[in-house]
Amino acid sequence: MLKDNPAELDGSELRDRLAADLIRARERTKLLTTVDDAELLHQHSPLMSPLVWDLAHIGNQEELWLLRDVAGRDPLLPETVDQLYDAFQHPRKDRPSLPLLEPVPSRRYVDDVRGKVLDLLERIPLHGRPLLDKGFAFGMIVQHEQQHDETMLATHQLRAGEAVLTAAPAPGGADLPGEVRIPGGSFTMGTDVEPWALDNERPAHAVDVPEFFIDTTPVTNGAYLRFIEDGGYDDPRWWDAVGWRHRQEAGVVAPQFWNREGSVWTRRVFGRVEPLREEQPVVHVNWYEADAYARWAGRRLPTEPEWEKAARFDPVSGRSRRFPWGDQDPTSEHANLAQRHLEPAGAGAYPAGASALGVRQLIGDVWEWTSSIFDGYPGFRAWPYREYSEVFFRDGYRVLRGGSFGSDPSVARATFRNWDYPIRRQIFSGFRTARSLTSEELDV
Ligand code: AVJ
Ligand code: FE
Repeated sequence: MLKDNPAELDGSELRDRLAADLIRARERTKLLTTVDDAELLHQHSPLMSPLVWDLAHIGNQEELWLLRDVAGRDPLLPETVDQLYDAFQHPRKDRPSLPLLEPVPSRRYVDDVRGKVLDLLERIPLHGRPLLDKGFAFGMIVQHEQQHDETMLATHQLRAGEAVLTAAPAPGGADLPGEVRIPGGSFTMGTDVEPWALDNERPAHAVDVPEFFIDTTPVTNGAYLRFIEDGGYDDPRWWDAVGWRHRQEAGVVAPQFWNREGSVWTRRVFGRVEPLREEQPVVHVNWYEADAYARWAGRRLPTEPEWEKAARFDPVSGRSRRFPWGDQDPTSEHANLAQRHLEPAGAGAYPAGASALGVRQLIGDVWEWTSSIFDGYPGFRAWPYREYSEVFFRDGYRVLRGGSFGSDPSVARATFRNWDYPIRRQIFSGFRTARSLTSEELDV
């Protein structure tokens, strides 16, 4: 068996794995910041930071946690630099007007930090302190960089002008039954055993989820188009009241980046305009659009426990898996991850990635909106900092699950939780729908 579950790694294997993960993240960061200086400094959308901010922020978090906290070193730069890259001191829209490090010093800074971190990783014991246990702090920093890489990928999707990123097309789909029945009963949600799980994924706890049905695949562009053509955007019956007001005020009439040219729908994807691919999952919809579609279809969004049960529950053993297909980390056969493709795969792709119950594409392709408000699990303890998740609990954020084509495997465990405001759609957000049993189904 391949030892790719970090829980099974120790000693030099653990160090090698963390070093490889750090290096993979940095290769991706370099790719996403290989644009000219003007592009790096430009704010492509008020919703996003200039790429140069993400870059130095990645280095600053790595320095703060690994060099200063873990290793007790002195700051590499004047301490006034820290506050520039503190996300809580400056909202994204204000970041371009800060006296940020220029591109060359930014690149030098992240390289300096990384050199010292790789040296440290070779020598420091990976146990004995909660932050170091199983290399947690290093794993956390890998995930931090990869999450910012996905944010930078969203900035690339928003930027105007010539395409700079390229990738092979994603696989096509397959015809499958529309929905899967998920048996009722208790299952284990969250984890105590994933060494690099973040605080909001803990602790493992039993949740009773009544029997329900969930879509086999995410909702496709073609299905979503039928909602549009049926006047779905003009019928308040389908919309949450706040969502309807937002739809009116913001003039939302289709997913972001869609455009109707006569009778043909096109989509702008990383600087290229192409005909809409009907079989691909819809992406760049906000929570209100997902919620309205589901109501129009006579269905609803899944709750977060429903999503996780569909993804992890193995009815044979009764236990919850790390991933839908088992406990092995994703390969290119399991899921569309890691920016390998710059689009979701056709609905029904990745048969090897099916869950025990036969649900497809839960991991990768598109982030999936759930109906749930972001909150801590019973027994939640903020760790190692409240600002990773706790400060966002019960503050109007909805949970998204499963990662997108732009998520790295290091942040695509089936317990991983993402959250955003319900009006946001610049992220790679889609959804699937669910339904409870009808009264006839309940009777039998
Ligand atoms: C979990 C994606 C909502 O990008 O705001 C990055 C991740 N936290 N730096 C975000 C994060 C700190 C976070 N999300
Ligand atoms: Fe951050």
